Amino acid sequence: MYAITGATGNTGKLIAEALLSKGKKVRVIGRDAARLKPLVDKGAEAFAGSLDDVAAMTRAFTGVKAVYAMIPPNPAAKNLRDYQNKIGEALATAITNARVRRVVNLSSVGAHLSEKVGPVNGLYDQEQRLNKLKDVHVLHLRPGFFMENLYWNIDLIKKMGINGSPLKPDLPVTMIATQDIAAEAVRMLSDLTFAGKSVKELLGQRDVTMADVTRALGKAIGKPDLKYVQFPYEEAEKAMLGMGLSPSVTQAYVEMYHAFNEGIVRPTEKRSKKNTTQTSIEEFAKSFTAVYKG
Ligand SMILES: NC(=O)c1ccc[n+]([C@@H]2O[C@H](COP(=O)([O-])OP(=O)(O)OC[C@H]3O[C@@H](n4cnc5c(N)ncnc54)[C@H](OP(=O)(O)O)[C@@H]3O)[C@@H](O)[C@H]2O)c1
Repeated sequence: MYAITGATGNTGKLIAEALLSKGKKVRVIGRDAARLKPLVDKGAEAFAGSLDDVAAMTRAFTGVKAVYAMIPPNPAAKNLRDYQNKIGEALATAITNARVRRVVNLSSVGAHLSEKVGPVNGLYDQEQRLNKLKDVHVLHLRPGFFMENLYWNIDLIKKMGINGSPLKPDLPVTMIATQDIAAEAVRMLSDLTFAGKSVKELLGQRDVTMADVTRALGKAIGKPDLKYVQFPYEEAEKAMLGMGLSPSVTQAYVEMYHAFNEGIVRPTEKRSKKNTTQTSIEEFAKSFTAVYKG
């Protein structure tokens, strides 16, 4: 049995589906049983509960060979790092209580840094916390910027006819499709050979700039002249607050964009075969187009 947190999300859903298709037993965790139903229909056992509930997570992790652990985003968090630490602490305690031996932890590029990298700081805290667990093998996956974040720009492209974000247009970014993170997690969860505490960076198919991204998306959606605009941090901040993100979450995201632009968030390894993944931005643009046109 495997326990998969965030099972209705980008990575967890694909991991659960892939393990089920290999004939493995999978316990899928989310807050709402109805949202887990499609995975139950594919053979999973549903566990409805909140990740900050130690007793519930202890039950969810009991009898499992390995856990796929993650701390979900929370746009409404009053204090983002406190929220992340509450969930992180509950997960670590439940892993200990349930005597789980192996954990694949979803972290991020930049999680070697304790300060000034916004939401990634909470993932630093979680790596440190899990590294302290005795007799548990932990693999931290550190992917780059998710291509799926680009879905947030669909409204902007439709309403304003531009693509934009606070990222510099010519900044090389290690951008990755979440299906490639899931594929790596599935390999690690199937083999169960990782030992001790280790980190694996996942850097996407190649570094891309927002100018490259805008070209690929524009071409795919039939707007080959789509322009990229770098938004000032203050404008992005206003927009995020306007979308209902809490001040703490907004401030964390602004800090993260700043950290990308200034080269603070960057991989610790050089690109190699080991940390390069399959899906190109041009390939992702096909999925983007389906959502854009759907
Ligand atoms: N976006 C990026 O560029 C990026 C880059 C590197 C790392 N990351 C990290 O990746 C993680 C997000 O991964 P993802 O994109 O695969 O997830 P996601 O699509 O954001 O999904 C979050 C999942 O968590 C569940 N969830 C939310 N709150 C919960 C709670 N209190 N208790 C139980 N379940 C809860 C949601 O399910 P229900 O709503 O059904 O409960 C959903 O399945 C974050 O830690 C983020 O920092 C993101």
